[in-house]
Amino acid sequence: LAELVPGARVAGRANADACASARTVVVSVPFASQASTILDIRDHLTPDAIVVDATVPLAASVGGRATRILGVWQGSAAQQAQELLPDGVSVVSALHTVSAAALGDLESQLDEHVLIAGDRKADKEVVAELIERIDGLRCVDCGRLENSRIMESLTSLLIGINGRFKTHAGVRITRLPAP
Ligand SMILES: NC(=O)c1ccc[n+]([C@@H]2O[C@H](COP(=O)([O-])OP(=O)(O)OC[C@H]3O[C@@H](n4cnc5c(N)ncnc54)[C@H](OP(=O)(O)O)[C@@H]3O)[C@@H](O)[C@H]2O)c1
Repeated sequence: LAELVPGARVAGRANADACASARTVVVSVPFASQASTILDIRDHLTPDAIVVDATVPLAASVGGRATRILGVWQGSAAQQAQELLPDGVSVVSALHTVSAAALGDLESQLDEHVLIAGDRKADKEVVAELIERIDGLRCVDCGRLENSRIMESLTSLLIGINGRFKTHAGVRITRLPAP
């Protein structure tokens, strides 16, 4: 990454170590590993940590189709994460509709919205500021964490679209006021 992105500072650490010194932590693992990953880090997070969760409960993570979403008892993967985390740590759900392939293609320009949801406005602002450092991404506050259920389900829709149109589709919300 440091070679691809001039000026980037990158360091590798074990999850527990990395969490201990970071206010904002991104969890981006397959749904089948989300709960165990959260449980591994929960006791190492700072008391006011923000956990950005990008997990999509794709049926593919348990052997089903990538175009289908699993039902999660808590309502969404992000709400499952929130339930497993200590009080004080807040989950901001984000990035489900941004293709990893598009993000990783530094030759092409991104131009899409990032839907974010969470129960603390100030934490969503911290996450939006971080995400919007990536040129071509603009965050749209989609309200409370419970709306992550809708955001997560969009990924399976986009995966189907990608298959039919041979692309890496994203989302754009029309008629928003200028930033
Ligand atoms: N790919 C996309 O375009 C995209 C877009 C939006 C949302 N998402 C969601 O973001 C999450 C990550 O997607 P991805 O495509 O990046 O998945 P991935 O490449 O399969 O996995 C990402 C990382 O998760 C870790 N991981 C995998 N299995 C694990 C396990 N059993 N235990 C602990 N860690 C494990 C691995 O870390 P190590 O390399 O350290 O082993 C891996 O590099 C998923 O929930 C996915 O649905 C993906």
